[in-house]
Amino acid sequence: MLRTLYGRMAAALLVLFVALACFLVGVQVWGTQRFQLEANQRLNRDLAANLIGQGLVGPGGEVRGETLQDVFHAMMVVNPSIEVYLLDAQGRILTYSAPPGRVQMERISLDPVRVFLAPDPMLPVLGDDPRHPGRRTVFSAAPVGAADPPANYLYVVLAGEQYQTASEALRTSQVTRLAVGLVLAAAVAVLFAALVLFSLLTRRLRRLAVDVAGPAGEPPAAAGAQPAGDEVDRLEATFRRLTTRIQQQLEALRGADEERRRLVSNISHDLKTPLASMQGHLETLLLKEDKLGVDERRQYLQTAVSNAQRLGRLTTELFDLARLDAPEMRLEREAFPLAELVQDVVQKLRVALEQVGVEVAFQVPSALPPVDGDLGLVERAVENLLTNAVRHSPEGGAVQVAFDAAGGRVRLRVRDQGPGIPPDEFPQLFERFYRGGRSRARGEGTGLGLAIVRRIAELHGGRVTAANHPEGGAEFVLELPAA
Ligand SMILES: Nc1ncnc2c1ncn2[C@@H]1O[C@H](COP(=O)(O)OP(=O)(O)OP(=O)(O)O)[C@@H](O)[C@H]1O
Ligand SMILES: [Mg+2]
Repeated sequence: MLRTLYGRMAAALLVLFVALACFLVGVQVWGTQRFQLEANQRLNRDLAANLIGQGLVGPGGEVRGETLQDVFHAMMVVNPSIEVYLLDAQGRILTYSAPPGRVQMERISLDPVRVFLAPDPMLPVLGDDPRHPGRRTVFSAAPVGAADPPANYLYVVLAGEQYQTASEALRTSQVTRLAVGLVLAAAVAVLFAALVLFSLLTRRLRRLAVDVAGPAGEPPAAAGAQPAGDEVDRLEATFRRLTTRIQQQLEALRGADEERRRLVSNISHDLKTPLASMQGHLETLLLKEDKLGVDERRQYLQTAVSNAQRLGRLTTELFDLARLDAPEMRLEREAFPLAELVQDVVQKLRVALEQVGVEVAFQVPSALPPVDGDLGLVERAVENLLTNAVRHSPEGGAVQVAFDAAGGRVRLRVRDQGPGIPPDEFPQLFERFYRGGRSRARGEGTGLGLAIVRRIAELHGGRVTAANHPEGGAEFVLELPAA
């Protein structure tokens, strides 16, 4: 329950409402009592003065003892909750009307009496209750005689036993009970309404949290255990995840853009060189047509043709790479024996092999599982690897092709007897347009062959690796899924 924002809001609200209800009930009980005291004191404000007016004081200002006893007696009969006290100028109790033995104080404070006697006092004014030391009560008071300061005071306690606890008030007072009931009912009603309102208000947030965590963020199942916290926490987490991902994608885009620019500049450079050479030779031919001998003319044409071939190869490879990179690229998978495919490729390269005097030697294990892949693409990869091996082989050297299978994969190893790969070239070997120092010096190749092999391996869920064989020469291993 406390996992959701709604649950937390509801719990907080409940606590606040219970606190508010307690406070209101307390205020209610206290206020009613206070009001009662005030009304009582206001009603009986002149009681002490009126009693004095009953002939309590003689002409000399002295208190008449017998009249006092009459008044005391009358008061006990009319209203036993009222007690009358005669005080001296220091507040000492001289006589009183309460039942004997009940009065426990000898002297009471005159400060509240003076406040009470001041013009326009703020009622209720609470004074000492002689029967209950420490307790304060409403009273009426008046000075006896005209002397200033007066020699005696008449002090009338109005509500001797009026105090109640909250539970007593609830038990006995209908007004209190009604008011408290209304407060509680209102609190419950408002609480209920607020809970419904919260539920409605947080519903959209809940939906948003679910929506955002769904397709845009990782699904909660993939993120492991249910994330801690409420919807807002989850939204925050998802938001963070999204920003990181956007950041990563932006960086990837930036990287791709960089790569694209590099590629375009590489491509234009690689296209420009053979094109310029071809153009130069053809123009020379055109200009000096008559002055050139047959052999020279033939040589010029030969150079132009080889440049055109190079341009053709470059554009084909570029086109192939673009096709392999396309997101909609689909493999036409089938099961076929890899060894036979390699044999076909060797057959195709026979003329070139004979030209450089390089042999290709096979080792085919008896039970090699067929490969599951796109025949055309795998042929292309094998051809690129073989061409490289032949190109880097010394004259009269041999290229060894071996196969093995393990763990649902078929491996093809192509090893030559060439100089191998300089260690610092390994990291870039499979990158587009990367050509090793030797290849660049000889002006051969485009640097796209191995990039194409790697892309084809990736598309098949396989891989290609390069290493130098301990006995010399480079060895490339192409790994493809078995059927
Ligand atoms: N068998 C090998 N022995 C030594 N170095 C090699 C071998 N195969 C490739 N390399 C190095 O890797 C570089 C990249 O090879 P890649 O096949 O991609 O390009 P290329 O052969 O130069 O050009 P292309 O294959 O496009 O005609 C080569 O320039 C060469 O330096
Ligand atoms: Mg190559």
